[in-house]
Amino acid sequence: MAVVNKAGLLLTLSFCLLLTVSCKRYLPTWDSIDSRPIPDWYDEGKIGIFIHWGVFSVPSFSTEWFWYQWEGRKLQPYIDFMTKNYKPDFTYADFASMFTAEFYDPIQWAQIFKASGAKYIALTTKHHEGFCNWDTKYSFNWNSMDVGPKRDLVGELAGALRLTTDIRFGIYHSLFEWFHPLYLQDASNNYTTQDFVKFKTMPELYELVNKYMPEFIFSDGDWMVDDFYWNATEFIAWLYNDSPVKDTIVVNDRWGQNIRCKHGGVLDCDDRYNPGVLQNRKWENCMTIDRDSWGYRRNAQLDGYITIEEILSTLAETVSCGGNLLINIGPTHDGRILPIFEERLRQMGQWLQVNGEAIYATKPWVYQNDTLTKGVWYTSRNETDTLSVYAIILDWPTGDTLTLGAPVTSLATTVTLLGYPDMFSWEPGSMGGITINIPSIPFNKIPCQWAWVFKFQGLKN
Ligand SMILES: *[C@@H]1O[C@H](CO)[C@@H](O)[C@H](O)[C@H]1NC(C)=O
Ligand SMILES: *[C@@H]1O[C@H](CO)[C@@H](O)[C@H](O)[C@H]1NC(C)=O
Ligand SMILES: *[C@@H]1O[C@H](CO)[C@@H](O)[C@H](O)[C@H]1NC(C)=O
Ligand SMILES: *[C@@H]1O[C@H](CO)[C@@H](O)[C@H](O)[C@H]1NC(C)=O
Repeated sequence: MAVVNKAGLLLTLSFCLLLTVSCKRYLPTWDSIDSRPIPDWYDEGKIGIFIHWGVFSVPSFSTEWFWYQWEGRKLQPYIDFMTKNYKPDFTYADFASMFTAEFYDPIQWAQIFKASGAKYIALTTKHHEGFCNWDTKYSFNWNSMDVGPKRDLVGELAGALRLTTDIRFGIYHSLFEWFHPLYLQDASNNYTTQDFVKFKTMPELYELVNKYMPEFIFSDGDWMVDDFYWNATEFIAWLYNDSPVKDTIVVNDRWGQNIRCKHGGVLDCDDRYNPGVLQNRKWENCMTIDRDSWGYRRNAQLDGYITIEEILSTLAETVSCGGNLLINIGPTHDGRILPIFEERLRQMGQWLQVNGEAIYATKPWVYQNDTLTKGVWYTSRNETDTLSVYAIILDWPTGDTLTLGAPVTSLATTVTLLGYPDMFSWEPGSMGGITINIPSIPFNKIPCQWAWVFKFQGLKN
């Protein structure tokens, strides 16, 4: 027996070594989960699209937190909005039948996401309101198959992305629900019971993974209680060991109020997390094109949307410091992506067509921003023994030179502008660094309109 076992073990080991497959089993502990490397596709992809869509897209007033602001916190603007526009006995549940999605065309969405240059998405499967956007066994009347769209919104987008793009499908899922009776009961028991987790949260997560095979899970709604209540480590260990997406799945860190920014996969920490300095661990900046809301709100004005300059500035800063950008849009109740969101996404894609070399699959450089000139962010790539360093400049130089403090030049140093054919001449800066001579480029020869990338080769650092 012992001999057979040893031989079997040897066979398994050599199998793992030969095929370089990972035979490591992860334990349901944070230490073990933290030890799993993040699959390369995620770090290389750099950009994801976040989509907040649900019953809150019907009132589409101020925030996707509408229900909670109205009936949880009883804030006056929300009470007034309801009094003015709806019958007195109108409930939040009544909004669900108005979530019609008649213009929802997942192929068209997929094409917009593709044009944006994004490499993955995260669609709300269920926000804190609890409404499920998929065909689920765990909700009988508060889901998109039975009420409202009468469609599997999640499944349709997953299918369209896989059919027409190479974008990875990912999901957002809220652990808790503001008003779910089982959750409220667990909470009133001071979380000594786990009925909600056992009968709702966990079954949903397993169902979503087995059914739609997402490669990214943005967990949220964790902050009311520590991880002992959610005990998500078993779920994550299953994801990593035995799930249908075990080799490619990426999760985030929102698995308990004591866990976020510390454990899990990618660190999302807080919304719009953007530390501005290099981080040890892979992290993500989730932010939104609408400055004040993740869900669509009808009462937004033009200056309520961030500009393409702001998007590119955030992208440059995020990627320089080792993060990914997860950029959010809010579709309407009838399934449209407003042209303002579409334009911003297409502008980002247009910029990436020229400058993607400075973003995708890059690594942080020794410096993240320049030491002399503000608004300059660096990335780098080391291929076939040649190190390329990219300086993303957010403002076009006002004079005929641009001086940067961080690059250390050698006689072999070359400088180019991505998307422009000619080399740029340069001199060593008077206090170190480099002074690039900026020729007068005809307006119509400028490769892009909003942020420009100088590429250096032959630097000493
Ligand atoms: C609730 O649980 C926490 C954590 O276990 C404990 O510190 C606290 O004393 C409990 N509160 C009540 C009212 O039982
Ligand atoms: C949480 O984890 C413990 C320990 O592994 C397990 O006994 C319990 O059943 C889990 N609870 C739920 C709701 O999954
Ligand atoms: C570079 O970034 C750091 C950290 O965000 C900041 O403190 C510093 O002022 C920046 N340097 C320049 C020249 O902008
Ligand atoms: C670039 O790659 C070469 C060869 O693999 C290596 O010797 C060098 O240290 C790398 N440089 C940087 C800055 O990573």
